[in-house]
Amino acid sequence: MSDGMVTALAELIHNLYPGEQPVPLHRPTLDEDDQQAVADCVASTFISSAGPEIQAFEEAIAGFCGSAYAIAAVNGTAALHLALHCCGVKPGDLVLTQSLTFAATGHAILQAGASPVYIDITLPDAGMDPEALAYFLDTECSPGYDGLIHKASGRRVSACIPMHSFGTPARITQIAHLCEQWGLTLIEDAAEALGSFISGRHCGTFGRCGVLSFNGNKIMSTGAGGMVLCDDPALARHLKHVSTTAKVADEFEFFHDEPGFNYRLPNLNASLGLSQFRKLPSFIAAKARVAGMYQSFFADLGYPLVHNPEAQSNHWLNTVLVTDATEKQALLQGLKAQGIMARPAWTPLHHLPHLQSPVSTSLPVTDEVYNRAVSLPSSVPADAIRGSLTV
Ligand SMILES: Cc1ncc(COP(=O)(O)O)c(C=O)c1O
Repeated sequence: MSDGMVTALAELIHNLYPGEQPVPLHRPTLDEDDQQAVADCVASTFISSAGPEIQAFEEAIAGFCGSAYAIAAVNGTAALHLALHCCGVKPGDLVLTQSLTFAATGHAILQAGASPVYIDITLPDAGMDPEALAYFLDTECSPGYDGLIHKASGRRVSACIPMHSFGTPARITQIAHLCEQWGLTLIEDAAEALGSFISGRHCGTFGRCGVLSFNGNKIMSTGAGGMVLCDDPALARHLKHVSTTAKVADEFEFFHDEPGFNYRLPNLNASLGLSQFRKLPSFIAAKARVAGMYQSFFADLGYPLVHNPEAQSNHWLNTVLVTDATEKQALLQGLKAQGIMARPAWTPLHHLPHLQSPVSTSLPVTDEVYNRAVSLPSSVPADAIRGSLTV
């Protein structure tokens, strides 16, 4: 990319985010209503694990996603761990996932005592490749008495966690079909994909569970927060029970009937979540406008963006694929020099020492996307939101 093109891109970004210095990759969008919602919650004293807002927030997200249940958690990482635990992933198991993801996906697998096995991704969506998944299942696995077995190691393969990269839906229909065919529990990491749909169905609702994040860098935020989506009432009850220290309801006694976690989202965060949720449609619309501007800019230059032509993305992070790692570094540095924070994709998990897989797989597209991906500023522009406090 020539210096002139980098300057033209910087100009587009500064026009989208006037006055933001440096332009962040993705900041939260907060206004006076959010401030008031949190102040009201503080005044009510219901700032901890009980209160009316948390249930209302869960119902709002479940309704929006078309999921029967939504169980709120302190963050997306905890929500992933909770989902793995309650779906029966046990120490020693193998869990299939993708290597191009935020470390939290791998960390949750380690927390459950399991080991990751990386399936390659595909383009243009940068999500798990259904063909690579089918190949791994066909060649390396066979059904056993206690679920699917990895033939070479004899270890149980207990779950599959694809991730919807940068908010772009993965080829989840095909992945879900394969998981069903092989009796593999599907847990979607939809942390980045609130507001993303495929065939009219929300990401995170195709398997046994789906996980969302409301971290400060996501499309809407509760400060920190996460959610598990599911349709099974027994699983929903168990998720909530385990996330609230597995305490059995009783007027006086402290009786806990199994190992539990203290993962419940505080009501204080849920109050912010409810206020943010009311603006989610306007956030999605504003981000579609930003995505349209990047798409036409890069179409003229012949550079593709990560996308799925068959899906409706929330456009959480617009990510361009440049030619190679040298051009990636030049673009990152060129934008930095103009006061703009662009970012590479996450270092693939198979390159992190503690997340090495015991099963080696071929990951050429994962490495290619890491070498070529540059994520560009993608916040909701301040002019899209009335009374925004962010600039
Ligand atoms: C793909 C992915 N998975 C999991 C998480 C973990 O979410 P949290 O930061 O809320 O723990 C994030 C985001 O931070 C993410 O991007």
